[in-house]
Amino acid sequence: MNKRILITGAAKRIGKEMALSFFKKGWDIVIHFNASKDEAESLADQMNAERFNSAMLVQANLDNTNEVEKLVAKIQSNNISIDALINNASTFYPTPIGTFSEENWDALMGSNLKAPLFLIQSFHKQLKKNKGFIINITDINVDKALVNHSIYLAAKSGLQTLTKALAKELAPHIRVNAIAPGAILEPPNTEWTSEQKNKIIDAVPLKRMGSEKDIVDAAIYLSEAEYVTGQILNIDGGKSL
Ligand SMILES: NC(=O)c1ccc[n+]([C@@H]2O[C@H](COP(=O)([O-])OP(=O)(O)OC[C@H]3O[C@@H](n4cnc5c(N)ncnc54)[C@H](OP(=O)(O)O)[C@@H]3O)[C@@H](O)[C@H]2O)c1
Repeated sequence: MNKRILITGAAKRIGKEMALSFFKKGWDIVIHFNASKDEAESLADQMNAERFNSAMLVQANLDNTNEVEKLVAKIQSNNISIDALINNASTFYPTPIGTFSEENWDALMGSNLKAPLFLIQSFHKQLKKNKGFIINITDINVDKALVNHSIYLAAKSGLQTLTKALAKELAPHIRVNAIAPGAILEPPNTEWTSEQKNKIIDAVPLKRMGSEKDIVDAAIYLSEAEYVTGQILNIDGGKSL
């Protein structure tokens, strides 16, 4: 039987490319999405056409604990067991002091911190039985303090702390690592001017933006690195130096 990985936020962008790469390596994929139903369906159709029953879809708004529980129940009611989990889904927007509400706090903490922890709790027995791994996707800006993003950064910082704490707690059965991307893609629905882009690239020693492939390569590495746990892998062209 093929190994199966649950990737959150897998309908588009980095999550989609990770899903396609694990699929090409022979994994079956549980594609989680929230609003991107059409993109998720078309990705699952593409995989299932190539390999029967290789992709399953689960929809959930990860800010909502009930929806996280339903996602878990849906996977379990299909008698599906997972071997790996990538916590990739993320809400990202600025929250300057003086402007945010509790709703903003719940949304940014929900997808970036609370849901990853509760998903790990729900699946840890399966992951333990299957000698699985977890990859949390964080952000290089945790160390760089991106201005006006205190809630998002606190959530991603928490996710990095969880990575280390759970790597120790779940060893020797489950490896838990994180990838901290630098400047990879423009934020959703944003187009940087060439001036903005050049300024960002200027701060990167390797003098380019990253690509989805750079993150995918790191995820594949961590999936195979059997003596690596509790690590935060910066994929940022050296920006954090
Ligand atoms: N892009 C970068 O340069 C960069 C830099 C640093 C860190 N990262 C991290 O790398 C990961 C992937 O980045 P990305 O730019 O590809 O991510 P993204 O496009 O901003 O978001 C990925 C997916 O997260 C899902 N999502 C957002 N809020 C959700 C919620 N409340 N419930 C459920 N799903 C939710 C969305 O799914 P739907 O579309 O289905 O709603 C979205 O497609 C993220 O964790 C991000 O923080 C990225």
